[in-house]
Parts: sequence; structure tokens; C-alpha cells
Amino acid sequence: MIAPKHVPTEAAVVADLREWLGRVEALGELVRVSEVVDPNEEMGALTYMVGKRAGSPALLFEKPKGGAGYRLLWNLLGNSRRRIAVTLGEPPHSSPMELIRCMRKKLKLRLPPVAIPPEAAPVNDRVVTGSAIDMNAIPAPQHWPLDGGRYIGTCDAVFTRDPDSGYVNMGTYRMMVHDEHHVGLYVSPGKDARLHIARAWEMGRPIEVVAAFGIHPLLMVLGSMTFPKNESELDAVGGVAGAPLEVTRGVATDLPIPARAELVIEGIIRPNATRLEGPFGEFTGYYGRPEASAPLVEVTAIHSRNQPILTNALMADYPSCEMADYYAIAKAARTWDDLDRLGIPGIRGVYAHPAAASGFGMVVISLEQRYAGHAAQALACAAQVPGAAYYTKWIIAVDEDVEPTDTDQVIWALATRCNPVKDIDILRNTWSTWLDPTQNPPEERPWGSKALINACKEHRYISTFSKRTAVRREIYDQLAARWQKLGLAGDAPELLAFHRDDEGRSLHEAAELAPKARQPEAKREGSK
Ligand SMILES: Cc1cc2nc3c(=O)[nH]c(=O)nc-3n(C[C@H](O)[C@H](O)[C@H](O)COP(=O)(O)O)c2cc1C
Repeated sequence: MIAPKHVPTEAAVVADLREWLGRVEALGELVRVSEVVDPNEEMGALTYMVGKRAGSPALLFEKPKGGAGYRLLWNLLGNSRRRIAVTLGEPPHSSPMELIRCMRKKLKLRLPPVAIPPEAAPVNDRVVTGSAIDMNAIPAPQHWPLDGGRYIGTCDAVFTRDPDSGYVNMGTYRMMVHDEHHVGLYVSPGKDARLHIARAWEMGRPIEVVAAFGIHPLLMVLGSMTFPKNESELDAVGGVAGAPLEVTRGVATDLPIPARAELVIEGIIRPNATRLEGPFGEFTGYYGRPEASAPLVEVTAIHSRNQPILTNALMADYPSCEMADYYAIAKAARTWDDLDRLGIPGIRGVYAHPAAASGFGMVVISLEQRYAGHAAQALACAAQVPGAAYYTKWIIAVDEDVEPTDTDQVIWALATRCNPVKDIDILRNTWSTWLDPTQNPPEERPWGSKALINACKEHRYISTFSKRTAVRREIYDQLAARWQKLGLAGDAPELLAFHRDDEGRSLHEAAELAPKARQPEAKREGSK
């Protein structure tokens, strides 16, 4: 046991979970539950029910049944855009598109962590090793009735080192409690920790693991994103936060420990050590794979703060899923960047709708059509770029006058600009997951398919396409300026489409003019 002194460092620090909770409480978005609630199913059920309402609060369970000395936090970000904004260091009223733009900018920044001495690290309030370790004493919750056990790690940050390059990865992976000294670590095929474990086992060596279970939600946001294998998520945390993550040394491993986390374990996975774990209620709103073998972590040390707060992520159907709204923003930012890198012009916005299996299932691209085939090109590229290729089933292109984050507008475009017989293409045998319930029989997973849906005005007839009803810009501006005088609350809604006089001809006239209007396009194409 180390008796630490909390020495504040000179270096700027990433705000920890407690500071974050203070900000969230000031926003009026934290409910402290002082009634006794059972971590087994009750907390999951309440979180699911609370999450049914938009902007639902974070829930801090102060008296977990059977877990004196611990507090459990659920619905950290959930469906609250305000808490997502606070986590990214942005104003709470930011719109989804503003957050996507900020994410694009901040994800490019890097700031490496700073090391602080163990005695200055709050996570070392209490450190236990050897026979004093008892994972069963921690009130890890069971989320859903058919879960295979109690999960201490859902909203966590797991650190492993690549045995070849020495690079340290941070990933968010679930961890089930097996017994006093063991937890399971489930990592999907191709994910970094799994590659590290497989490589160590090939070399006949054990591999060290550190897992933090009470974390600033930014660590979950970045831990659940795929970064290139040679880029450290730890540097990205500092980049997005604008201040380095504080880490410290452990007592049993050579891996960094987030110094301000609430509870951290150190552990070791011995060669080929596995145990059955799962199933687990997933982000799709279904149970995932049945019980199966997963690497077995032998816990070698537990570090914790006083009265530690365990962070928990409920996976569920929308809007009760922890990883839906924030993931939608992060995935949209990455997909947009991918399209930019490929040089696809005219992209006005990208969104991954959170209701579509927590952002995994659908991507909408809004673009200004500049040439014949432009929408089809954007669709085909978006379907396979790294940011969107995994799982995504529905890729929809809409024109620039349709806000991709507004489901109503997207559905309007689908209903008025898409002609299914001509405007849907299918890709087969694409990158998917064992968790997609539609791929049956299950043994034949994980191949998927994708529909590319062109819900843009038909480019071939764009000059004669029916005009949408839209107000004149001058009239909008005058009315918006008088909005409150007119007795209306708030500000005038933003509009993307305005009436244009040059489109103001009758349908009949337009049809007559159509061949002329299309001529320059045809010429341009011919000259290529
Ligand atoms: C709350 C939560 C739980 C997750 N659980 C798992 C899991 O158990 N196994 C897994 O492979 N991925 C899980 N993911 C997704 C991974 O975090 C994601 O695939 C990430 O890219 C993994 O990091 P890596 O790319 O460094 O391997 C989870 C994501 C979240 C937000």
C-alpha cells in the first residue's frame, strides 16, 4: 500500500472525471441517486428507461447495493449533446454539425502524456497486491438479464504494448469479472489489443495489461476509435483536450497508468490463457455472440481513489445507448476526412445517424453535385473508406440543401429525390461483424452488404427537376430580425434552401429549356 501525497503538477492536466462531473452538475445534467440500487440489472434497467428521453441526465449511484465505498456512474454522455460538447471542450449549445467540425480539427492534434511520480497520483490513494486482491468485492454490474456475468469494464481504457514495436495502445473493451483474481478481456478480431496478445502468444510470452475503470469520458471516446497502428491514442487525448494526459508508473507492470483515473488494475495474460465469457447486450440492441473463450487476465494490482467512481456504458437500442450520439459525431468526422483525402469535392456535411445501431449502420453525405456521376462516386467511396466501411449498411447521398444531421430532411429527400428502381446499388460481401443479427445462419458471419442510395436530385435532369418550395432570402432576413418582436421565442430556425428567381420558370418552360441547360455539361464531358 502506498500512502500518497497529492502534489499538483506544474503541467496542464486533462480534467479528471470528478472535475468533469462538477461541470456536468453545473449544467443541471447530473442526477445523484442516493437510494440503494442493485448493480445487477436494476442500474442497467434504470439507465435504459432514463435514456428514452432526449438530453437524459448522467446518473451517479451513490449507494450501490452490496458495494459500500464505491459509486457507479452511468449514462455519462448518452444522448446529451451538451455533455458531449463539454467533453470535447466546446460550448454546450453546439450543434451536431459544429461538433463534427470541431472533432475533425481536434482529432488532427497530438500532445504526448506527462509522467508524474506515483506519490502524486490520486489513483494511488489505495494500492493492493497479492492475496489482498478481490475483484468480487468491487460492485461490477450485470447490465442485461442474459449477460454472461458482471462487467467491470465497459466504459474503460485498456492499455497493452505491441511486443514488436513497443507502441502502447489504448482501447475500450469489455471486461467480465471471473473470480477474485481474474477478469476476461473480450477483443474483436483485428483490434489492436487482440493483435498484441496474439503476437505475444506466438512468441510464447505473457503480455501485460492495464485497465482503468473510472475514466474521463474523453478516454472512452478516443479509446473506441480506430487509430492507425503507429499513432498513440494517448497523444490524441492530449491533442483533443489541449493538455497532456497525466500518467504514472504501476507496481506490477511496465505500462502507463492514468494518474487521475478512479480505479485501475494491472494484470498479466499468460500464454494461451482463456476462459469462457459473454454473451453481452450490445450496441445493436441485441445480445452479441454466445458464450465463448476470451483472454484471461490475472490481476496483479488494484489502484483506486477514495470512494472510487466506476464508469459504465450501457449498450442498447437508441436513444438509450452510451455509444450512439458521440460515436455518430466521431464517425462522421472521420468519414468526412477520408472523403477529403480522396479529393471528393463539394462535400457539405457527413453524418452517421445514431439511431442506426449506434451510428454504425448508416452514413449520410450532403454534397453539391458538380458533375455527372459525382453523387455515385461519393457514395461508392464513403461505403469503403476506413472511417465508414465497417458494418455501415445504408449510405445515402443528399443535395447541399438537405442538412444530413436532420433525420426529417433526409427522409424528405429519400421520399422526393430517390427513385428506388434507379437510385439504389448494392455492394456484397463487405466488411461487417459477428454482431449483425441479419446475417444468418450466424456461423456464416461476418460478411455484410451495403445499399448505396442516391437521394439527390437526378443529375441528368437537374435543371428541370421540380423546384422545391422555398422562401425568399430577403423576406427570411427581415422576418428573422423581427422574430422576437413578432412574439416568437428564441431565434429564427436556420434554413438551407431559399427561393431563387433564376429557377423561377414554370415547369413547362423549364422542360423546354432543359436541353439547352444541359448543353454545357455535355460539352465539358465531351472535351475530357
Ligand atoms: C463502451 C464500449 C465498449 C466496447 N467494447 C468492446 C469490446 O468488448 N471488444 C471490442 O473489441 N471492442 C469494443 N468496443 C469497440 C472498440 O472500443 C473499438 O473497436 C476500438 O477501435 C478499439 O480500439 P483499437 O482500435 O485500439 O483496438 C467498445 C466500445 C465502447 C464505446
